[in-house]
Amino acid sequence: METKILTREELTQAADYIRDGELVSFPTETVYGLGADATNETAVKKVYQAKGRPSDNPLIVHVADVATVEKYAQPLSADAKKLIDKFWPGSLTMIFNLKPDVLSKSVTGGLSTAAFRFPNNQLTLDLIKEAGVPMVGPSANTSGKPSPTTAMHVYHDLKGKIAAILDDGPTEVGVESTVLDMSGDVPAILRPGAVTKADIEEVIGREVNDERHHVGTNEVPKAPGMKYKHYAPNAQVYIVDPNDNWQDVANWIAKNERNHPIGVMAYKKIIKKIDWPENVEPISLGENVKDASHLLFKELRDFDDQPQYKIIFAQGVKSEGLGEAYMNRLNKSAGQMHFNQL
Ligand code: TXA
Ligand code: MG
Repeated sequence: METKILTREELTQAADYIRDGELVSFPTETVYGLGADATNETAVKKVYQAKGRPSDNPLIVHVADVATVEKYAQPLSADAKKLIDKFWPGSLTMIFNLKPDVLSKSVTGGLSTAAFRFPNNQLTLDLIKEAGVPMVGPSANTSGKPSPTTAMHVYHDLKGKIAAILDDGPTEVGVESTVLDMSGDVPAILRPGAVTKADIEEVIGREVNDERHHVGTNEVPKAPGMKYKHYAPNAQVYIVDPNDNWQDVANWIAKNERNHPIGVMAYKKIIKKIDWPENVEPISLGENVKDASHLLFKELRDFDDQPQYKIIFAQGVKSEGLGEAYMNRLNKSAGQMHFNQL
């Protein structure tokens, strides 16, 4: 199959593919998604195949209006409505209890709930409206690879496997949406994202759970996707924590670099300040955690295209606000390894 790269002018063609049960990758403000008609089980099954995704891992249903959510979900609570008013369109995915038998098992992974998201990208909202159906959309990467933040990343992973990619340039946020489980008595964050715990609590005026504090190491995490290996580059990533001294990192590199170059991804100010060994070419993650989140997956993918790198040292930040989402992804790519363990 030839994978076409489509632009805004070719939106109708992208919508035709969706209606015909084909797969189209779509842009969002977080990462690129892999779209299929959520009401067409054959089409949804193709999503799992193209990504190599375990079939018990449910998909997010992307909508362009709240009425579609109300069609499938049990009546929305007052809190859900407040969160929708405040954060949609935007990077908050919410899990609601479903009415019986409204979505196929391939969408829900057999759960009685589904995740809904109203993305903040006009091109994709237009695509959903034009196709006239809600769209499932996991991140458009091969399972286990960093989520794609450009059309080229999608092309790299899925060329020949999907009908088209709707190109809208690089995504803005760079890490996937916050996943908030609204199906129980107390809302629970299953995956941190740009909409933070504090943002949510401010709107609903009560505390929300945070899986970090509740899931023991032997328990199964609630969002099935969180148990799979994620974002793992070929090189071993080591996190350089905010309290570590980057000059120590530079000195470690000078001492240990032998046959392979060693990668560095750090804030610009750190790159400037440190006295690096001659052959180190540090990659800038910008000025702050917003820049770093925007760039993280792109830079990890760039390193994957350069297999000579076996070790990467990466900027750690305080795990608060957007930093929590960033550190969640960085920890997975590093398999929890830190510079201070070396
Ligand atoms: O930013 C995003 O959310 C992107 C863009 C494309 O919208 N999508 C995305 O989808 O990251 P995906 O499939 O890669 O991640 C969705 C996560 C998975 O960890 C999945 O297990 C979880 O949400 N999830 C989906 N439906 C769920 C449900 N009903 N209950 C619990 N977890 C669910
Ligand atoms: Mg994903």
